[in-house]
Amino acid sequence: MKKLYSILLIAISVLSAQTETTLNYLQYDTEVSSPALYKARRDSLMRLTGNNAVIILYSAPERIRNADVDYQYRQSDNFYYLTGFTEPNAVLMMCGNGISVKAGDSTISVKEILFVQSRNPMMESWTGRRYGTEGAVKLLGMEYALTNDTFKKIFSQTLFFSQPLYLYAPPITSDCSGEIRELVSPIQNFFDNAAAHQSAIEFRDVNPLVRKMRIIKSPEEIALIRKATEISALAHNQAMMSCEPGMHEYELQAVYEYVFKKLGAEYTAYPCIVGAGENSVILHYESNRKKINSGEIIAADCAAEYHGYASDITRTFPAGGKFSKAQREIYQIVLNAQKAAINAVQPGAAWAKISAVADSVIENGLFDLGIIREKGKYQAKKFFPHGLGHPVGLNVHDVGKAEMEPGMIYTVEPGIYIPEGSVNVDPKYFNIGVRIEDVVLVTPNGYEVLSAGTPKEISEIEALMKKKGIGNLPLQ
Ligand code: GLY
Ligand code: MN
Ligand code: MN
Repeated sequence: MKKLYSILLIAISVLSAQTETTLNYLQYDTEVSSPALYKARRDSLMRLTGNNAVIILYSAPERIRNADVDYQYRQSDNFYYLTGFTEPNAVLMMCGNGISVKAGDSTISVKEILFVQSRNPMMESWTGRRYGTEGAVKLLGMEYALTNDTFKKIFSQTLFFSQPLYLYAPPITSDCSGEIRELVSPIQNFFDNAAAHQSAIEFRDVNPLVRKMRIIKSPEEIALIRKATEISALAHNQAMMSCEPGMHEYELQAVYEYVFKKLGAEYTAYPCIVGAGENSVILHYESNRKKINSGEIIAADCAAEYHGYASDITRTFPAGGKFSKAQREIYQIVLNAQKAAINAVQPGAAWAKISAVADSVIENGLFDLGIIREKGKYQAKKFFPHGLGHPVGLNVHDVGKAEMEPGMIYTVEPGIYIPEGSVNVDPKYFNIGVRIEDVVLVTPNGYEVLSAGTPKEISEIEALMKKKGIGNLPLQ
């Protein structure tokens, strides 16, 4: 009997050691934000909605690329912000007043439940390890977790028995498809039938509340955006060093993407834009198939995403390593506009005022070169047709507000684009597209340029381009 008991004990400890090992596999990365941080965000959201509300958020859908191949999965911004969870087919449900669940023979009340994919050795051997309910509690710090097949029942029971005043959930839009759409179909049913049943529960969109929480970045978020930006800056340096006439735009794209991956970034923050010559004037050019000719200018807008957080940097450089006179003239106007705008960044500054600083430098510069013949009347906007910048965070075009506050992160990215055939413009300026984009953190006393690791002065770029980069190594 004693022997059997010790065998049992050994078996139990081996089993629990195995579970720990399996869970450890799920967190290879360092620099992950702590479960306590996500928990604090969930608690804040519950405070915002009040206790008499049920809150639901769910994973991004998996998207089919073709046949049985999916696009690389990426979690939805708001869901990730609240959970740090990167698996699909998960639903977060919270209620300050508590959600009743059966635990063994008793009923307990919990404030948050993460519904997750069940552990499934066969599926996991194909598509990767899953947290399961145990990982959701132990690694993500969720108060409670259940498998996602139980969501429908718990959702209906909670609405029926708790009678909350509000249901805060994202509207189910047409891009919510596949398994997650099926999982959250009770929300749609509630929405569709609420009027008919004269439900006293008011449906509210949860997304604006979470977006508002994301405007000011925490120190942990700033560290991740800084890391994404440092990686992106090094990639720009390597691209400039590697650039030679005769290469293709995609070869420079390859340099960027190599550096991103080499330094641990999981994704590009958006598809790489590498436009040479006539493509430099296309704002979001993505095909990157053209051969780069000598004498052309290249606008490269490329950046990494690290642990969910985007960077966004553009550098513009001459194919042969030396700017022509016409390129230099346009480039210097954009650089002056960008530096003047960045200098205006400080707490309390209105973004519209910062934009006006850049607009004015560009208008004066274009007028002085004779590219526009009069000021005002949106003449300069023909050549600078986009906004000065945008907030950066979990999304490359993130959430923000009109007045700067410490902890906000914005791009500052003026540009001048002169397509071939521009009316009344000297042809020497044709096919010159220049954008200079930096990532700028608003600090208590002003600003910090997070992307300072890649140069933008003409002399600095020309000096850097004398060096060789990883893109010049022969493949063998
Ligand atoms: N890379 C996209 C943008 O600059 O907004
Ligand atoms: Mn941008
Ligand atoms: Mn950009």
